[in-house]
Amino acid sequence: MMMNSRVGGGGGGGGGGGRVRVSALPLLAVVVFAVLATVAWVGDSVSVTGGPNPDATPIPLFQAYTNALPEDLLDMLMEDALLYDKMAKSGGNLKFGKLPTTWYPLVGDDYRPPRFASEVAISFLRDLDFPGDLLHEHGVIGAEWWYQVRDRDENIGFHFDKDEAVASLEMRLSHPVLSTVTYLSNTGGPTLIFNQSSIDGNDNQPTIPELGALSFPARNKHINFHGNLLHGVVGSLTNAPQGVTQRRVTFLVNWWSVKAQPPNCQPLSRDQIRQFEEISRGAVALIDQKAFHSAHPSALVDVTSPDEAAQISDDEYFTVTLTPEERTHIWWNHSLPSDGTYQIRWKGDALLGGVSVLDLYEGPSVRRVFSTPKPKLFLFYDENKHNLWELEKLFLPAVKPHADAFLMFTAERKKTKDAMNTLGIVDGDLPTVAIHDTTDDNKAVMTGIFSRARVEDFIARFRKQHSSEQQQEQTQDDQEEKEEEKEEDKYQDE
Ligand SMILES: *[C@@H]1O[C@H](CO)[C@@H](O)[C@H](O)[C@H]1NC(C)=O
Ligand SMILES: *[C@@H]1O[C@H](CO)[C@@H](O)[C@H](O)[C@H]1NC(C)=O
Repeated sequence: MMMNSRVGGGGGGGGGGGRVRVSALPLLAVVVFAVLATVAWVGDSVSVTGGPNPDATPIPLFQAYTNALPEDLLDMLMEDALLYDKMAKSGGNLKFGKLPTTWYPLVGDDYRPPRFASEVAISFLRDLDFPGDLLHEHGVIGAEWWYQVRDRDENIGFHFDKDEAVASLEMRLSHPVLSTVTYLSNTGGPTLIFNQSSIDGNDNQPTIPELGALSFPARNKHINFHGNLLHGVVGSLTNAPQGVTQRRVTFLVNWWSVKAQPPNCQPLSRDQIRQFEEISRGAVALIDQKAFHSAHPSALVDVTSPDEAAQISDDEYFTVTLTPEERTHIWWNHSLPSDGTYQIRWKGDALLGGVSVLDLYEGPSVRRVFSTPKPKLFLFYDENKHNLWELEKLFLPAVKPHADAFLMFTAERKKTKDAMNTLGIVDGDLPTVAIHDTTDDNKAVMTGIFSRARVEDFIARFRKQHSSEQQQEQTQDDQEEKEEEKEEDKYQDE
């Protein structure tokens, strides 16, 4: 049996969808799918900034530390977490339901020495994450911080950390230099980070990630990773059995080289500062412990998946939904201890994804269909008759080698009627695979039995035919050009 963990919803502060939400094409698209589909594309890409400074001393993709903070400080952070959680929830939600985060400047006139536990922790973590001259080399000017208090098996949806205000209001993607997580409890699902970033707000690079890190909660562990990487929390892999009431509490600090903007990220008000100061008397004195507290870098344990699909059984996969609504099936060795920090390499069929869920009535997928001139590849099915995972096991490995050549979708009939009509597919044809090249309105629908080999064959034929057509056009163009040149030569000769 496959573990199913639909990861939904935004990550709260610093979370939210990974995609920059450029106003979705309206419902109208449903009725005009056929028309739009032939009008090439209406894509809008956005600028992406952030991550470590490429010209400075490089920082590894993922790093971990044990004993990150003095033990006395951890108890105080736990109290800050509960206060923060209360404040955030009573403060009212921002656009798209995101929770606010807090800005703490590290340089300039606005800088204040640490006043309470969270700020003391930030000062410790700054030295841990940016030893030597790295802080200056990477231009870090401030910290964005917040807490997450979650249940033992709660998900945090996959997202990119970004300036949420800039994403909502200016349609740009601005990432921190580094994102970090400090675990205050031993409980909960692991943080899963992919070596995958957004190129333009629409497409991710690589389309299907090959490397990632999985970090299980462990009190006083601190991890950091490049601020432009896709990540989330996988509740179904929780290390806490049912009945455990302890919650997953984390302290999040992101390091920025530009100021994260209000209203999503704000300095605390005077009153809020007073409340934190009241509960964390004594924290400031801990600054002096800096000299003799001992954080340890801790190497990530390397884990590599099997090469062959045949060596992977169903129950070694877990399923998450990445952005944008992309079901992804990920191999994991469930025998490994659930308090470790791992770097994972997924080979062959160990990570199956790169395919979005098409829904013409809701969500960002309509806009996505028309966001690129790439041909579209669809798996059409009927959820009342077909088990999607059984189809995906045949479909996803077959399309994986073509992930960069197509924009790929799974398409449930009730949500994709207009697309089916456009392609001339009726209910009796399901399940089937279809390709629509929206630039020249070239359509193809697979016929016959649904198998991995047939899907592979169908795609290979389409690509071969298509590239030979393009070559023919190219040869024709070349011929015409040569003839034009000849004409020109003639004139010149005369
Ligand atoms: C991470 O991904 C980037 C971009 O896809 C790639 O250039 C880089 O080599 C990857 N890093 C590792 C350690 O695999
Ligand atoms: C899974 O982990 C266990 C425990 O470390 C190990 O003995 C086993 O070989 C691993 N299996 C795979 C397929 O990596």
